[in-house]
Parts: sequence; structure tokens; C-alpha cells
Amino acid sequence: MATSIQNFVTIKAGKLRLSPTLEINELVQATRAKGNKVVHLGFGEATFPVQKDVLAAHEQHSRSTSYMPVAGALELRQAIAEYNARRYGIQIEADQVVVAPGSKPLLFALFDILKGDVLLPRPSWVSYEPQIQLANKRHFWVETDEHDRHSITFEALDAAYKRALEEKADPRIMLINSPSNPTGQVFSPPVLTVISTFCQDKGIVLISDEIYSDLTYDQEANPISAFQISNAITGDARPSKAATPVIITSGLSKTYSAGGWRVGYAIFPHCESGRHIRDTTLAYASECWSAASAPAQLASIEALGTSCAMNSYRRMVTSLHSHCTTRLYEALRDLGLNVAEPKGAFYVYPSFQPYSAQLEKLNVRTSVELSQWLISECGVAALPGSAFGEADDGLVGGRLRLRMATSYLYFQSEADRYEKGYAMLERAGEEQELYLPLLDEAILSLQGAVQKLRDTPK
Ligand SMILES: Cc1ncc(COP(=O)(O)O)c(C=O)c1O
Repeated sequence: MATSIQNFVTIKAGKLRLSPTLEINELVQATRAKGNKVVHLGFGEATFPVQKDVLAAHEQHSRSTSYMPVAGALELRQAIAEYNARRYGIQIEADQVVVAPGSKPLLFALFDILKGDVLLPRPSWVSYEPQIQLANKRHFWVETDEHDRHSITFEALDAAYKRALEEKADPRIMLINSPSNPTGQVFSPPVLTVISTFCQDKGIVLISDEIYSDLTYDQEANPISAFQISNAITGDARPSKAATPVIITSGLSKTYSAGGWRVGYAIFPHCESGRHIRDTTLAYASECWSAASAPAQLASIEALGTSCAMNSYRRMVTSLHSHCTTRLYEALRDLGLNVAEPKGAFYVYPSFQPYSAQLEKLNVRTSVELSQWLISECGVAALPGSAFGEADDGLVGGRLRLRMATSYLYFQSEADRYEKGYAMLERAGEEQELYLPLLDEAILSLQGAVQKLRDTPK
């Protein structure tokens, strides 16, 4: 009997597509294979050289092959707790921390474990939406606007919550990500207070993805976490039983350019419900991934330390991302695109709406068509807004948005990364002039693309 290939996977899994970030990578390879040059702004992978002591620690522990505890090595959990407690001026203990092979599986575990449906800001990082669907949950967009740099307002939260209730859903989870992928927005303390208060009032568990939190450009400002804000609202250094849990996730992939090492973590609140969710996450982890890689965990103890070398590495990394991303933002703004100034991470999120009439003439009406036009006509790869939840018939220019990542604009090759990377970081830390030919090339290509649009009759 002939069996259709569709008979082997579930309907839900059958709807999954290769992540758009991987898809754009493949398009870049194909375009380059045809001999065409491509400026790659499509992939948000941090590529600076790993800090030297951290690299040495990883090499030193390469013979550690035993499974680590499910929650992660105790010394690493202590380092994570101390690092975050010191930054935010709050109390965090090692037993509140769970380490995993990246923060991505932790986020999926949380969506799968927690009850209810999800309030999700639009735009949002590409993986939340499919993860929520895989966890058999519904999501309701909290709309944001470039005019206030994609901030979150009480009105937008309330509208999403009411829409969820009208549609007979059960909104009990909210996900936020600051600094944000894709917008580069950093939520201010008043915005975090609005979100935290809303979640407390409605009994919503807040998951705060803070993977870019070291990469906040204003290094004079105190770092700020949803954890801290919720503690301030409940008036407790360690929230009481009544508080609705806030869970933060983070990891090694962005600040430390070590995505491939696969180390992420979650911090749970010290209340009864927080402990219960942590214990459930641990049980889930024990059945799904067991533990994160041993050498990578042992090297991460060094990375999350507060030695002068590590503090200075984090400062230099932030300065370099800030310099490059701000320069790309200024170039896009000067080209007349609608774009909010990024305040953290390494992304800009422009809308080509001001050129919509010319794009229409070129049969470009959606963000996917725009990203295809940009790569084939102008050699610039960027991710379409639709990957971040933007609707093609959506609000305020969402359909003509692209996310551009600056993280591939530093080195021509892997060898370059280690030969030139440390000196480049030092120069950025000392605010000396930087030579970034790939950034110049990206700006030139984008200027060419916009010139083509200006030359197209409306
Ligand atoms: C917003 C955001 N959250 C989470 C992740 C996942 O990071 P990892 O699984 O490497 O910790 C990424 C990676 O691109 C991201 O951009």
C-alpha cells in the first residue's frame, strides 16, 4: 500500500518551516554561488573573538565529558546569580537559576509548561510565534509603533488582553524582549513598570528575554531588568507568595559571541510559584536535553565573572555594536526611510513605506517581496518584517519593514576575526576611529538601492 509522505508528521509539525534566518543564509549562499556580491545583514549572530581567558577555560576543560547536573554546574549558577544580583542590586541565589543548551529550549520549555495563552509584542523575534504554536497555545499581538520606538503602552496591552478574552482565549503569559530583536528598542523603567503592573494585576506570568541586556548603548545608565521592577512593585527584594512570577532568560550567545557553545539560562523568582515552575522546568529538562555542554558551562563561569578583563570586554563589545549599528541607523534615516533609533542589541528595523509608490511600480508589495528585491537587485540581504509577525496588510508601514543585523559587518573571514578582532574591540573601547569596510559597503549598497527607487517614476 502506498503511503503519502504527509502521513508521517503531525499536522501541527507539518506547518513548521525552516527558520527565516536560515532561509536567508541559504539565499545568500546561492546568490554568492552565482558570482554576485552580497552584503549579509540577514543573520543576528555575534562574531567578535571570544574573550581570551574564556577561550582558554574552554580549551582547558575540553576533556570534561561527564553529564553536568540538570540545573547546571553549581559554580556557574553561582556566577550567574552573582553577576545579575550585582548588576541589578537585588538578591538572587544559585538555586533560582537553571542552565540549558541555549535560552531557546528554555523559552520553549516555558511556553510548553505554563498554562494559558500568550501576549506577544509585534514585532517579535522569529522563534517565539512557532514555539507558542508548537506548545498548543494561541498568541495575541500587542501592537507597537515606530513613533515611540516600538515601546509598549497600557492601551496596547489592554487591547490585546481584551481581544484574547473576546476570542475565548486564556491570556496568562506575556513575553517581552528588551533590548529588542528586531527593533533595538530598550524599555525604560516606566514602560517596564506599566508592563509589570499590568501582569501583576491580571495574574500573568511575565517572561523577560534579556539576552541582549549587556548590549545597552547608554553605558552610563543603570542596567534595568523586569526582575528588578517587579520586585520594586511588590516591595520585596525577593517577591512574596502573592506575586505573579517574572522569569528572565539570557545566555552566552550575544555578549560573548559564543552562540555555538549553546549555554543559556533562566532565573526564576524566589516565591513558591517561582520554585514550582523551576522544579517543573528541571523535570522537563531532565527528559529533553539533560544538561548543557560541560566544557562550555565551565568556560561560562569565567565569562560571567566580574574580573577587570571581563568587565572591560563587555564594555568594548557594547561600544563596537553601538558604533556600527548607530552608523547604519543614521545612514538609513538620511536615506529617508522610517526607522527608530536603536538603543541596544545589533539591529535596525527600517520601513521602506516612504517609497511605497515606487515599490508598487516594481511589483513589490510585501516585506518578503522587498527582501527578495533588495538581495537580487542590490545585493543586500535582510529579513522581511513578516518573519517578526508584521502583517502584509498591517499597521504603520509594517508590510515594508526589514530587519537588518550589523553583526556580520566586522570580518571578511574566520581568520580575520581572531587576527583583527581584539585590536578592533580595544579601539572601540577607547573610542578611536574604526575602519569597517563591510559597513561602508553595506551603506553604499543601500544608498544604491534607494537611488534606484528614487529613479523609478511614481
Ligand atoms: C531575542 C532572542 N532570544 C533568544 C535567542 C536565542 O539565543 P540562544 O538560544 O542562543 O541562547 C535569540 C537568538 O538569536 C534572540 O535573538
